[in-house]
Amino acid sequence: MKNVLVIGATGQIGSELTMKLRKTYRHGRIVAGYIPGSEPKGDLLESGPAEQANVCNGKQIAEIVDKYDIDTIYNLAALLSATAERLPLKAWDIQMNGLINVLEVAREKHCAVFTPSSIGSFGPDTPRDNTPQDTIQRPTSMYGVTKVATELLSDWYFHKYGVDTRSVRFPGLISYKTLPGGGTTDYAVEIYYAAVKGEEFVCPLAHGTFLDMMYMPDAIKAAVNLMEADPRYLVHRNSFNIASMSFDPEEVYDAIRKHIPTFKMRYEVDPVRQAIADSWPNKMDDVCARKEWGWAPSYNLETMTKDMIKHLKEKLLTGSNEQ
Ligand code: SER
Repeated sequence: MKNVLVIGATGQIGSELTMKLRKTYRHGRIVAGYIPGSEPKGDLLESGPAEQANVCNGKQIAEIVDKYDIDTIYNLAALLSATAERLPLKAWDIQMNGLINVLEVAREKHCAVFTPSSIGSFGPDTPRDNTPQDTIQRPTSMYGVTKVATELLSDWYFHKYGVDTRSVRFPGLISYKTLPGGGTTDYAVEIYYAAVKGEEFVCPLAHGTFLDMMYMPDAIKAAVNLMEADPRYLVHRNSFNIASMSFDPEEVYDAIRKHIPTFKMRYEVDPVRQAIADSWPNKMDDVCARKEWGWAPSYNLETMTKDMIKHLKEKLLTGSNEQ
């Protein structure tokens, strides 16, 4: 991996992954792909090349791959779960038609491809606790439908054409740099912003709703390490369970209150998000990722909370937002 195109480089994952790749592969070209209206700014713009890269425009993707001699594509364009329920056809277009565009370019131009899957690829029939790597995947959300199809299509391109496709099932991702939008797990980011701003948090998921969560540095490490892994040891490809922590709203609230004792939270359950969350696992088993490519997270709820609060205080209270 030396010349990389990140599609969705200004999103929650892309904004941090692009910077990490630029620091790691100093001699490579790491192209920040964006769509109009989501242009890169600041360090992301200044530290390397940027190109308009609409996943629904295969020709545009192919031209960028040629121009920069791209060997790896991180395909991060997606609508998250609650938005995808509202805009199912748009979600299908971005997640499926977009994916096939990327896979076709990768087949023709010999690129490796990383496309995230999610806890959302599971459904109500899946075992909730210690969800196995290989198990029932019958999701009931449009987001989940596209994620299972992403896994299958990516594996098909690997078996049929030898395209080097790899993927992880991300938990809810928590970060302080770029906000997520339209996801069921977004509350676990928003709760930290409310706490640091001194506001009461109105929680859209019910007490006792356990979900896998992960701090962004671990998520970025997973994406990079998997793409660098020796393919001889990969029994699975699309997609690996990865886990680091599982909590419900009360547990994250308690963790924050250890640092900000005056913080208050109340519940106002959003039925759409709650139904989605109720269909997802409580906690995935990530033994295959650990065995096949050495996955190991660095953060738990306590260490993440300390770091989130420190950085959000810098960002929100002093206005500094270093990368
Ligand atoms: N964070 C995503 C969502 O909530 C799940 O992968 O939609």
